[in-house]
Amino acid sequence: MKIYLLYIVLLQTLGKFIGMIKNVFFQKLFFVFLISALVSCTKTIDYNPVEFREPYLQYESGDSLAVRWFTKSELDRPMVSWNGTFYMSKTIDHRYGVIYESIVPITDYENQYILYNGSEKISDVYTTSTLDANFGEYKFFAVGDIGQPSSKGGFTHELNSLINSIDSLQLGIWLGDIVYFHGRSSDYDDYFFEPLAQSLSSIITVPILGNHDYYSAIDDNYFQEWKRIDNGHYFKIVKDNSLFIFLDSKNGRFYKYEEQKQWLEKTLQSAQEKYDWIFVSLHHNGRTATYKREYKRVIELYPLFAKYKVDLVLNGHSHTYERLKPMDRNGNVFVTESTSFYDQKTMNNSFISITAGAGGKLNGHSGVDDSSEKFKEYVAKAVHVGHLPVFSVRGKVLECKVYNQDVELIDSFTINKE
Ligand SMILES: [Fe+2]
Repeated sequence: MKIYLLYIVLLQTLGKFIGMIKNVFFQKLFFVFLISALVSCTKTIDYNPVEFREPYLQYESGDSLAVRWFTKSELDRPMVSWNGTFYMSKTIDHRYGVIYESIVPITDYENQYILYNGSEKISDVYTTSTLDANFGEYKFFAVGDIGQPSSKGGFTHELNSLINSIDSLQLGIWLGDIVYFHGRSSDYDDYFFEPLAQSLSSIITVPILGNHDYYSAIDDNYFQEWKRIDNGHYFKIVKDNSLFIFLDSKNGRFYKYEEQKQWLEKTLQSAQEKYDWIFVSLHHNGRTATYKREYKRVIELYPLFAKYKVDLVLNGHSHTYERLKPMDRNGNVFVTESTSFYDQKTMNNSFISITAGAGGKLNGHSGVDDSSEKFKEYVAKAVHVGHLPVFSVRGKVLECKVYNQDVELIDSFTINKE
């Protein structure tokens, strides 16, 4: 509003100036210049932007989400306009500026939102799809090992483009090691939020802790950037017909292992027969034929995964892609042939373990040793490229498609429980 008043005063002054120009041709020329300058100004100054981290959507609860955003300095009345309704933003203190958060009820499938300071619009329009068009039908991605700068061989911008080329993604899981090398808050904007801004503003994403996230004090770094769900270390969310369980494997030996294991068993026990799908995400791998060692404490959880019908175990850590054949409670291969279609009978309480650890950083030396005995026995598919696994859930059918950075399919499989 203030800008338009300024234009009127400016026009009056310039009108007098035009009158002072004696030559009619120059008067017309100046007038045309004035109009075009005004039109271009109106186009570019649609809002008064502040220096900020673009908004990122965080999980809040089943019927609401949190919009988080960041400014370098304090605002008077920070708000989010969500589908035209205004929600005040609360301030969360932060060493490098201010993070704001608005809790927004989820009521519509397609959503538009804008950031405001009082009546002043301070962002462009963002769009997101939050709900499912049909119950039991949604799409999510899961990938780890992300925030590596391009100067050190990282490809986070490419990951952002890849994510945005996939339609209707509603949930994203960051499988740990969010920001290299030290998990520092001060690296988040350059290494993670800026390159992934488009994805983060349109898809609710949930992170888990990896070993690199522990290299800096997590309360002063990791947990400054992410909204905690429960204790932030191990927690669950429910989406439609699916239960998502998130664990903290810390440095491979786990955060409070016994406590976490007990919680896991209790959670799995009470989930029986309630959901069509159970997914477990953690940073470290159990069985693997990649260059990483096998982590005993992950393998110690296999009996629980098998007993309580976990479908997929998703991890990062190893900077490559690897899908193992379904395994039993002892970590032995249960379905020996290399296939891409599974039904209830062939799975029979076995689970599939996937390493998706080249979200933004590929191991420079090797991926999977395909000449090893372990590879021949365990691996259904392995590809050593940057990648994004996308899981489509339609009722009791799950389809996984894994893409490389050129959006080419590098692996796919289906589990049909109908
Ligand atoms: Fe790691």
